[in-house]
Amino acid sequence: MKVCVIGTGYVGLVTGICLAEIGHDVVCVDKDKDKIDTLLAGRCPIFEEGLEELISGNIERKTIAFTTDLAGAIKSQEIIFICVGTPPLPNGKPDLTALDAVSKLIGQSINGYKIIVNKSTVPIGTAKRLKKIIKENLRDDNNSHEFDIVSNPEFLKEGEAVNDAFFPERIVVGSESSRAIELMKNLYKPLIEQNFAYAKNNKNKKDKIPVIITDSTSSELIKYASNSFLATKISFINEIANICERVGANILDVTHGMGLDSRIGSKFMKAGIGWGGSCFPKDVRALAFTAEEYGAEANILTSAIQVNNYQRYKIVQKAMDVLGIIEDKTIAVLGIAFKPNTDDTREAPSITVINKFLELGADVRAYDPVVKSCPPEMDSKVTITPDAYRAAEGADLLVIVTEWKEFLHIDYTKIKELMKSPCIIDGRNILDKKTMAGLGFNYRGIGV
Ligand code: UDX
Repeated sequence: MKVCVIGTGYVGLVTGICLAEIGHDVVCVDKDKDKIDTLLAGRCPIFEEGLEELISGNIERKTIAFTTDLAGAIKSQEIIFICVGTPPLPNGKPDLTALDAVSKLIGQSINGYKIIVNKSTVPIGTAKRLKKIIKENLRDDNNSHEFDIVSNPEFLKEGEAVNDAFFPERIVVGSESSRAIELMKNLYKPLIEQNFAYAKNNKNKKDKIPVIITDSTSSELIKYASNSFLATKISFINEIANICERVGANILDVTHGMGLDSRIGSKFMKAGIGWGGSCFPKDVRALAFTAEEYGAEANILTSAIQVNNYQRYKIVQKAMDVLGIIEDKTIAVLGIAFKPNTDDTREAPSITVINKFLELGADVRAYDPVVKSCPPEMDSKVTITPDAYRAAEGADLLVIVTEWKEFLHIDYTKIKELMKSPCIIDGRNILDKKTMAGLGFNYRGIGV
């Protein structure tokens, strides 16, 4: 089928590649010419394992094309995916400027039956909004052309995006049109049946992917409710970790004991510095906002956000406990990305924690295996070091913020020698408390 994907961010690029790999003719569009040029050269503008090879492979096979010509791509393709950003506004509401602009142009460019599929995480009711904008912008000469709207949320995790796209746990299709639903099932047939070339001999291949057919509003809510549930699960376990610290229990044993109950499960149960990234913070806030707008209570969501904010502050509090006064102390921070295997720093806990340390007068050195420059929201007084040892040199305290695998293999004996005082706050519980104490560190984890 002929597919157009608008937006080449995480969601758009991975969606485009996935659809090309399963046998469709894909055109990816972005208004950022530099990004398109990078992609045309077969390079990936984001750090995502396995994506670059797939991009160059599909360019070679001519199954994917990249362009800035949106109107042209809408005209030539039959299924139009919208994957543009919906970043949060200061009040927590998603900014729909990009989505509205794209819908307008779709309306103006439609030249035959099209399915408009929205993959961006959008407020409840956006499918209806899209329909209205497109209708209002249909040109006189093409007013008779039909189109249908589909909500098809994306559940990919950064760092595992390729795998999540090819071997998803479910595909959700929300639409009021049975014609569009049938075409979507056809589009995803190779994925549903897991019989495309990339899946062959892949250890992650599944037997069959479940498809949930529903109305567009329920589909939109499935996305928000899923992310909010996962974020709440983490906030819950972080609250239990804080209780552990007070009563003298160990969160690692507590989560192990809880997680073996299949109704609870062991995933998304890692206590730590809290959640960040481009999705959880934005989506939980947006759902709480929607609830308020529609007069529903969102007490659990509001609490999950509060617990998450507190969790970052707790790291600063622990630093104060260890150091007494933060002013003029040297603090080494390991990890800037919001989680491992990504260069994404959006709403990363490192930003809050580092900015607070700097505000309190500390000298902060930070190291990340992938993030090599100061993120825009981070105070530029921070020094980014080329390795962990350089960050630790002369430091009074070392704080682990992101659980990069590399941090497990650091020579902590050498780190201890380099530091002024051997104190570690492990915001992700990646190190073993006894081992670290054995090495002579004053070690503090979260709930251990
Ligand atoms: C998330 C959802 O998982 C994905 O389905 C959705 O499409 C987008 O949002 P992502 O933001 O890439 O994906 O990261 P994820 O791996 O889910 O982690 C989110 C945050 O939770 C990170 O800050 C991570 O550090 C934190 N986390 C995760 C924990 O603190 N503890 C855990 O046990 C798991």
